[in-house]
Amino acid sequence: MKGLILSGGKGSRLYPLTYTSAKQLIPVANKPVLFRVIETIRDAGITEIGIVIGSTGDQIREAVGRGGRWGVNITYIPQDAPLGLAHAVKISQEFLGDERFVMFLGDNVIQGGISPLIAQFANSEWNSQIVLTRIEHPEQYGVAELGDDGRIIRLVEKPKNPPSDLALVGIYMFDHHIFDAVKAIKPSWRGELEITDAIQWLVEKGYAVHPYIHRGWWIDTGRPGDMLEANDLVLEEIEYEIEGYADRDSTVGRRVRIEKGAEIINSVVRGPSIIGENARIVNSYVGPFTSIYHNVTVENSEIEHSMVLEHSEIRDIEARIQDSIIGKNVLINKSPIKPKALKLTLADNSQVGIL
Ligand code: DAU
Repeated sequence: MKGLILSGGKGSRLYPLTYTSAKQLIPVANKPVLFRVIETIRDAGITEIGIVIGSTGDQIREAVGRGGRWGVNITYIPQDAPLGLAHAVKISQEFLGDERFVMFLGDNVIQGGISPLIAQFANSEWNSQIVLTRIEHPEQYGVAELGDDGRIIRLVEKPKNPPSDLALVGIYMFDHHIFDAVKAIKPSWRGELEITDAIQWLVEKGYAVHPYIHRGWWIDTGRPGDMLEANDLVLEEIEYEIEGYADRDSTVGRRVRIEKGAEIINSVVRGPSIIGENARIVNSYVGPFTSIYHNVTVENSEIEHSMVLEHSEIRDIEARIQDSIIGKNVLINKSPIKPKALKLTLADNSQVGIL
């Protein structure tokens, strides 16, 4: 069995973070979402993985490399434009050949336990297996309608009136018949070749498409709120581990991970939280559900329920920072200049809440 990860697309709903970073590389609990996806596929025993890349392809190649770190071989498949998930399958036919494969969206985070399901598909009779989960607002996703016998009746992409609350999770398993399907379908109203339509084609032609209902959590990290939610859920599972240093004047909670080279000086860190490599937390408070990434400095400040990406600095801020996502190389400090005023250099589409 092979793996296919979709990491093209622009990530426009995550602007400004994705002006400079591929959305699949944004770290959730200090690990890029894409790395979590590679690990899930590898844990299913798959070593040949293709990654579909778009305009952010160079960054993805640089971050992932050839896959040796995970014991897998990575093949990159460039997609000229984000023409849809089914289009991504179409251009990957040469890489996939006749083998069964699992396709994973590179921006989805799912609670563990999915790897055995993927491995089972390798020896199953089904032509396809899809993963569904019950959610509150299915209209933003692909939605499945199942019959009383549990079989799929139909699948629709982002319907205005969803026929059920079962959303299609971004994990799909196929055999080679999917190539006939992606060639047969036409672009949707949003101009994309939809994988949902391709699976519907398989159902209509009588191929065996098995729905699996996932009961744990699942997050599509499309928007900033989803990112923070995914971060919360992954942090929930974190265990106490101190590889860095915390001085005697600091208090470090039970569910806190302090990575190599990080220093906690005269500070309080409440879990669940993670402090990245070579980060410095000085005279500060880091509250629950916070991910501080590598080489970040927080000094004389308080931060809670937030994510801070690499090389950013937060210094001497009196108000507590909360519910925030702070990108790379950001500087937030107290301005000594008069008159007392806010001095802001913000990228397009930034959002700032001021007291
Ligand atoms: O997250 C689950 C949902 O993913 C499903 O419920 C929907 O049925 C499915 O169509 C998809 O919907 P989205 O609108 O959320 O997909 P999005 O455009 O965000 O793309 C998902 C990933 O695939 C993302 O990592 C970018 C990548 N991608 C997307 C397109 C359109 C590609 O690599 N190439 C593409 O052409």
